[in-house]
Amino acid sequence: MTAQPNDLTAKFRHLLHPWEHLGSHPTQNRLLIERGEGVFVYDREGRKLYDGPAGMWCMQIGHGRKEIAETMAEQALKLAYYSPWGLGNVPATELAAKLASLSPGDCNTVLFTTGGSTAVDTALRFVSLYNNVKGRPEKKHIISREAAYHGSTYLSASCTGKDREKNFFDFETGRIHRISSPDPYRRPAGMSLEAFTAHLLAEFEAKILEIGPDKAAAFIAEPIQASGGVIVPPPGYLKGMHALCRKHDLLYISDEVVTAFGRLGHWFASEEVFGIQPDIVTVAKGITSGYVPLGAALVSDRVLEEIKGEKGQGVNFYHGYTYFGHPVATAVALKNIEIMEREHILEHVREVGPYFQAQLRTLSDIPIVGDVRGMGLMACVECVISRDSKEPLKLDKAIGRRIDEHAERLGLIVRPLINMCVLSPPLIVTRSQIDEIVEILRKSILLAMDDVRREGLWQG
Ligand SMILES: Cc1ncc(COP(=O)(O)O)c(C=O)c1O
Repeated sequence: MTAQPNDLTAKFRHLLHPWEHLGSHPTQNRLLIERGEGVFVYDREGRKLYDGPAGMWCMQIGHGRKEIAETMAEQALKLAYYSPWGLGNVPATELAAKLASLSPGDCNTVLFTTGGSTAVDTALRFVSLYNNVKGRPEKKHIISREAAYHGSTYLSASCTGKDREKNFFDFETGRIHRISSPDPYRRPAGMSLEAFTAHLLAEFEAKILEIGPDKAAAFIAEPIQASGGVIVPPPGYLKGMHALCRKHDLLYISDEVVTAFGRLGHWFASEEVFGIQPDIVTVAKGITSGYVPLGAALVSDRVLEEIKGEKGQGVNFYHGYTYFGHPVATAVALKNIEIMEREHILEHVREVGPYFQAQLRTLSDIPIVGDVRGMGLMACVECVISRDSKEPLKLDKAIGRRIDEHAERLGLIVRPLINMCVLSPPLIVTRSQIDEIVEILRKSILLAMDDVRREGLWQG
């Protein structure tokens, strides 16, 4: 069949999208987004939809910013690209200094990457270089957590803790270990939050001792597990994990690919929200508000100093990408940060974040809603078959997808995750827009609930 110029459906087979089901590719129906403006996107028929997930947790300043487009054009005309090997460019150098001024603790050295996965990969490779230079070649084991998502390169995917995403691919297993997700909703029945934190810390220390502190090299963690279902850890957890890293000489990698650049109302969440100073921080997404791909790993002075100087004689940092510090991407990041500062977007998130959370929690009266959680402008609504059993699956594996389908018809895109719906709107969202988003979500959950009741999947 020859595809008509405008018949994009016939061209679907030339794309294999991330997380696509091979069995239904290329027939899988796909909403094609054509245009965006502010917190809205428009499909090919001109239908207006709220961008509930901000693209993929990234459109911080919203869609359609002319200033960003002009910055791109100006930089591309001035210098679109030049090699970072032995040379530099102005926007990358300016951005590195700006990031150092905003980053937690002494994470002052910037290794630019092409996105989040490559930022995590860079951090993990740095850990092995660090320990090799320090003369500890055995100290290479990484501890990650269930429900974590760290990316799609071989190493970053190996640190990802979602079992369902582990089928059919191969992963590094020998040196990567997993401990529990700090999910308060699914903590053992009857356990207080304090006891849960203590339990998680004890599990971590036991894992370090099992591997051996001479072999355990790093702990990697998102401050809030994003794709795992917006899991906000219990109080004291991250501080406790950080202290255990210090005690047993592990590097702490804070994966802030989602939480940095305003999602929680701060440039970074590690220090300002959770009170920890990581050794390496990874960022991407919101650094350019998604307008162009860019990521970075920021390394602490303390750690770098340990392997520089005499120790570093003869050691080259043989790692980096063609598009390290890409001039157009870094110019866009600088403009993005400038806009966020000028429009007081962090302050805005700190103001509307609690409202967003409170409004979403009004959905708790719907019988299939088991938990509504989140912080700042990231949240998750988790559906369960029964609030007592918290059983998620029997209800219908794809309840999130059903809710999303209803929501799309009503003008809202949500991010469905099996039995969960995740929301992380652009950071410029207003109170009245939040009201409308929550209203559409309520209607959509109720409609999905009717569906599963009618189909006998749920007897509420
Ligand atoms: C916490 C976290 N780390 C890393 C990544 C990978 O980023 P990217 O898709 O830009 O490679 C993601 C992507 O969602 C993420 O959420």
